[in-house]
Amino acid sequence: MRSVFPFKRFVVFAALIMLVGALVAGCAGSTEGLLGQELYNKSCEACHGEDGLRGTQIGAGSAAAELTDRQIRGAISVGPGSMPGFPRLTSEQLDSLVEYVRELQAGSDGG
Ligand code: HEC
Repeated sequence: MRSVFPFKRFVVFAALIMLVGALVAGCAGSTEGLLGQELYNKSCEACHGEDGLRGTQIGAGSAAAELTDRQIRGAISVGPGSMPGFPRLTSEQLDSLVEYVRELQAGSDGG
């Protein structure tokens, strides 16, 4: 059964590739299908807070309220300063985030 050995090696190799692939997909794909608030809570809340007013403030009354939609989109995909970029988000997801950030900015304004 000489042929068993190369096959076995191939199986181990394939399993490793699949494991690495699953790990990468698991991280990258974790925001797949999420939009708006769900996506914000998953990707942004840890740094910016539920209401956008923790850490670097992007919520009501913050400097980010002065940014254009385009600038917010750009910030999310590229990541200014020490913020990580989110280049994998779809255009639809970026739109939904801009919309949600606008809601936060409007939400507690003057409240
Ligand atoms: C690891 C922490 C972290 C995460 C996660 C994060 N941010 Fe940020 N964000 C920051 C920091 C820090 C800044 C300020 C960057 C600077 O100007 O140096 C910032 C800045 C911003 C700004 C202002 C950009 C500007 O040009 O002034 C916006 C808008 C923003 N973040 C939105 C988001 C959104 C939406 C998400 C989720 C997709 C997100 N951030 C995820 C840390 C984070």
